[in-house]
Amino acid sequence: MNTKHSFLIESFIGLGSLLLIISALGLYILNEPVRIVQAQDEVLALQLDEAMTLYAENCAVCHGLSGEGMGATPPLNNPALLTMPYEDLYKTIARGRYQTAMPAWSIEDGGALSDYQIDELVTLILHGDWGATGDRVVNLGLAPLIPFTTEADPALLAEIGNLPDGATLQTAVTLFAANCVSCHGADGLGTGIAPALNDPVVREKTAEEITRIITFGNTGTLMAGWSNILTPEEITALVSLVQRWDEVPLGTIPAPDVPIAVTEESLALGSQLYAANCSRCHGPEGQGTPRAPSLNVRSFLTNTNDQAIQQIITSGVPGTAMPTWGDRMTEAEIQAIVGFIRQWEPTAPEVATITRPGGGGPPWRNNNSTMPNVLPNTNSSTTMSGNSAGGQTLMQSLLDWRLLLLLGVLLSIAFTLIYSGWDALRHVPKKAG
Ligand code: HEC
Ligand code: HEC
Ligand code: HEC
Repeated sequence: MNTKHSFLIESFIGLGSLLLIISALGLYILNEPVRIVQAQDEVLALQLDEAMTLYAENCAVCHGLSGEGMGATPPLNNPALLTMPYEDLYKTIARGRYQTAMPAWSIEDGGALSDYQIDELVTLILHGDWGATGDRVVNLGLAPLIPFTTEADPALLAEIGNLPDGATLQTAVTLFAANCVSCHGADGLGTGIAPALNDPVVREKTAEEITRIITFGNTGTLMAGWSNILTPEEITALVSLVQRWDEVPLGTIPAPDVPIAVTEESLALGSQLYAANCSRCHGPEGQGTPRAPSLNVRSFLTNTNDQAIQQIITSGVPGTAMPTWGDRMTEAEIQAIVGFIRQWEPTAPEVATITRPGGGGPPWRNNNSTMPNVLPNTNSSTTMSGNSAGGQTLMQSLLDWRLLLLLGVLLSIAFTLIYSGWDALRHVPKKAG
């Protein structure tokens, strides 16, 4: 290459770089206001993000999945609230509304939220996206039970009438099913948001103390006072239910039959958790294997509601290979699996086509009498539960084909880099010489 030529090229490069620097600087200056707005937007987005979680954890139980309100609790997605002064909204949340179920939330007033968190919640009410908030509530497994109430089992309710002072218990069971079950759970066994009342520890409390809690509530918790909703006689009946719960048969107050809410994220999580933990026994598509029954079959899905499936997964099936998952997965994770399994229902076959290495033979689910015989390890539940199951899961996810693919790509990039580095080194001495 001659010198004149190379000088021209160098000037071009110099000029080009100068132009690039000038235009970059110009763009930067022009962009500064945009950048500031973007930064503000980011802060707002962060606040809204935190507020959605706060809403899910503290407010959804009364104000509904997406701020739509529930029963007597007003909606928060109400356009009228947008014209309410900031101060008033803030005070309502911080101090609660006296003589209503709306608790005080500020730490000053015995609640659990800081001033900053209350401010974030006001921001959510004024600028939030209620659809996204609803998704957050579901993803955290905190979707409130709707309907908020359940019906007592008629046969068992009649049976309770035969107990001493049975009429009082009957009244209390009906009241509990209508007002308390959404938080304190079926048969008073508790939920993620409120403690069990059907519990020896609670039974030991004095009638006065239980009466006080139900009448006035516990400040700063979801437990509101019921004095302006229930009569003193009704509260007395509920107190005697709490104290005599051991006499009330299980199943008297069933869980509300509510389909578990799902979102795109929860279905993806459910699918991933199913693949990692359940498919080796129940088959990748829930078709069943010789180790465990099919779940993707019409009869099972129509006869078993979401609460029942959640219960089975949480507690396992004692005396079989079906492990207890409640101690290794959160409620939200188990609900995500239930949502994923429920998705099979519309296309579930009448008869399960079980994956079975030997082939042939009637599918297990459709031949109940042979069930225990086909199960190879019915009695080895102890070896299947616990950490061994977790270990196998890890191995399986390590062997996931996507991971292997990624590893392959990374390896080839590394090889290319090493090769080109070595090639460059090899050529250096030649140029110098
Ligand atoms: C235990 C049930 C319950 C919980 C939990 C609850 N609220 Fe309320 N909330 C109510 C009730 C009931 C009212 C209506 C009070 C009234 O009659 O003025 C209310 C009213 C409100 C109002 C005023 C609405 C209006 O139209 O005037 C706001 C705002 C509000 N709540 C926000 C929240 C926020 C934010 C949370 C979570 C930090 C929350 N609430 C948790 C029951 C609840
Ligand atoms: C919005 C949810 C919610 C509803 C509805 C609700 N509770 Fe509670 N309840 C709670 C929470 C949360 C606690 C625990 C409060 C605490 O931590 O001190 C509680 C505590 C209690 C306690 C004290 C338990 C103990 O271990 O000391 C009693 C008794 C009780 N509730 C009875 C009732 C009755 C009866 C009803 C229906 C009339 C009812 N609750 C409705 C949330 C609720
Ligand atoms: C080690 C094998 C094994 C694993 C892993 C396993 N299960 Fe099971 N599962 C079983 C067996 C065996 C049964 C049948 C129990 C019985 O005889 O009632 C069962 C029963 C069930 C049932 C009730 C089916 C019916 O027809 O009543 C459900 C629902 C279920 N499993 C869901 C799951 C889910 C969800 C997972 C993953 C989180 C899982 N299982 C993981 C072995 C397994």
